[in-house]
Amino acid sequence: MEVLTKTYSRLGFSGLDTAEMVTTMNKVLANYHVFYQKLRNYHWNVKGSDFFDLHEKFEELYTSAVTNIDEVAERIRVFGKTPMSTLAEYLQVSDIKETGTDLTPIEMAGQVLADIETLDGFLVEVAEAANEVGDMATMDLMNSMIRSLEKQHWMLTMWLNNSKN
Ligand SMILES: [Fe+2]
Repeated sequence: MEVLTKTYSRLGFSGLDTAEMVTTMNKVLANYHVFYQKLRNYHWNVKGSDFFDLHEKFEELYTSAVTNIDEVAERIRVFGKTPMSTLAEYLQVSDIKETGTDLTPIEMAGQVLADIETLDGFLVEVAEAANEVGDMATMDLMNSMIRSLEKQHWMLTMWLNNSKN
């Protein structure tokens, strides 16, 4: 029987090892920046009886976005590559798209839920690519981002179900 062994590495990854991670992490950066600005838009412009709940929730999400965006960009620098860094590129590359300002609270929460799903998909892709090359640090970073986004997804889903009933 074949025994499967996995080798984990620290530093010294080759350009080939990191290529897929870097490409997908740049997609994370693009999507996360657009998501960040959407959250600020909704934080400022949410209206109605759920104002305080959503105003605060959107702030919590964009605050953690700042930290996560920075961690991802700096992980790309650790690999000696240049992170995507301009708004023009982010807007072009991002699957998450901006909306206007006059959405209902339910529409805003729906947008944020869908955007979390998009972002989660890219994070899982990076984690898989990191696992392929035995890069524990990137896996760890992705896992913690995935865990926290999926928790936010659950909470927003509960809020949305409650608001629709
Ligand atoms: Fe504020």
